[in-house]
Amino acid sequence: MLVNKTVVLGITGSIAVYKAADLASKLTQVGVRVEVVMTESAMQFVTPLTFRSVTNQSVITSMWEMDSEFSIEHVALADAADIVVIAPATANIIAKLANGIADDMLTSTVLATRAPVVIAPAMHSNMFQNTITQENLGKLKARGFTIIEPSYGYLASGGKGQGRLAEIEKIIGTIKQVLGRDGDLAGKRVVVTAGGTREPIDPVRYVGNRSSGKMGYAVAEAARDRGANVVLIAGSVALPEPPGVEVVHIQTALQMKEAVTRAVAQVDVLIMAAAVADYQPKSRAVQKIKKEAVGPELTLEMVRAPDILSEIRGNFLRIGFAAETENLIGHAREELVKKQLDLIVTNDVTAPDSGFEVDTNQVTIISRGGKMDSLPLMSKRDVADRILDRVAEMLGER
Ligand code: PMT
Repeated sequence: MLVNKTVVLGITGSIAVYKAADLASKLTQVGVRVEVVMTESAMQFVTPLTFRSVTNQSVITSMWEMDSEFSIEHVALADAADIVVIAPATANIIAKLANGIADDMLTSTVLATRAPVVIAPAMHSNMFQNTITQENLGKLKARGFTIIEPSYGYLASGGKGQGRLAEIEKIIGTIKQVLGRDGDLAGKRVVVTAGGTREPIDPVRYVGNRSSGKMGYAVAEAARDRGANVVLIAGSVALPEPPGVEVVHIQTALQMKEAVTRAVAQVDVLIMAAAVADYQPKSRAVQKIKKEAVGPELTLEMVRAPDILSEIRGNFLRIGFAAETENLIGHAREELVKKQLDLIVTNDVTAPDSGFEVDTNQVTIISRGGKMDSLPLMSKRDVADRILDRVAEMLGER
């Protein structure tokens, strides 16, 4: 979705400019046309050559450069932008923008553009927390700018505080979210589950499974990038939280059921990509089970865990995944009928490049009406988009 988009990337005078080179590079690598505009103070930290090298584009450093494509009419850059991103943004640029000052190429472009503007502040925590900076950010937010909060950690000036440029992945995620705001799922509320559940045996052990959460996270991110409001209910995962998605962390099947029940109160679509336990230990030992006390054999008594997808019904689309090791289509069809789903996505979890943990998946999507779509091996993100194509179609038919 970023391919062929034009991002005007404003670089201002913060030590975090070196991270912006990584941002410019990553955006360029996924097919974005990155037009970098540097302020005078940004050039005290790095030269335009750095950005020119990673974007393959000339860098705009002044309103008066006669050899620039955009120099004659500075609003041309503002018009060309699909989005303007200022990262890092100093307290100074934030103050200028909040007050409509347009005394250089970057501020003039922001004032002239109709594209959405994203600001990623980076500065000393005292400057960030200063009432004036906060008021200025408040003004910009009220005008529809998206602010990516700086993160907490070591600051260049020494000490720790909130002022570090947000992580590059978070900035890219926010750009995708903002660009996707008017997508085919705009205004829809989507609940996605991801990852495996853990059913405790004692305070240190549990019954779990191999789900990494990658498939569910890909669905959540893809739905966000198509304009949906997404709640992601995540079991055990080690993935960064996708920006622009509300994440609820749970451990057990019962907790997941409670979280899904709350989240589907007002929802258009429920997509369950999580690998949920079918059985849970009948009881949980209060203290760690000691082998000296148990002896050579330990028998665990298991009882059924709640079947969330069977139990939670409502006037929304219900989509399940089927993790199978044999008779993929047959088992998935049975599940579709038994749980009265609108769609089921089946994957072979014995294939090395499909199912658990890997970044790719090979799935068959089967709909309630019997329509079957066997997809080739593709990235989990592409699988997510193919599922959401069907979701958008089904929502349109309602
Ligand atoms: O997380 P990854 O590493 O990326 O791996 C992705 C995946 C293999 C986990 C995913 O693609 C997948 O197949 N998820 C479903 C796993 C599963 O639990 O399948 P199932 O056939 O046991 O269950 C069928 C459906 O019922 C699923 O949507 C499941 O979420 C749901 N279910 C299952 C058990 C239960 N107690 N409650 C449920 O709601």
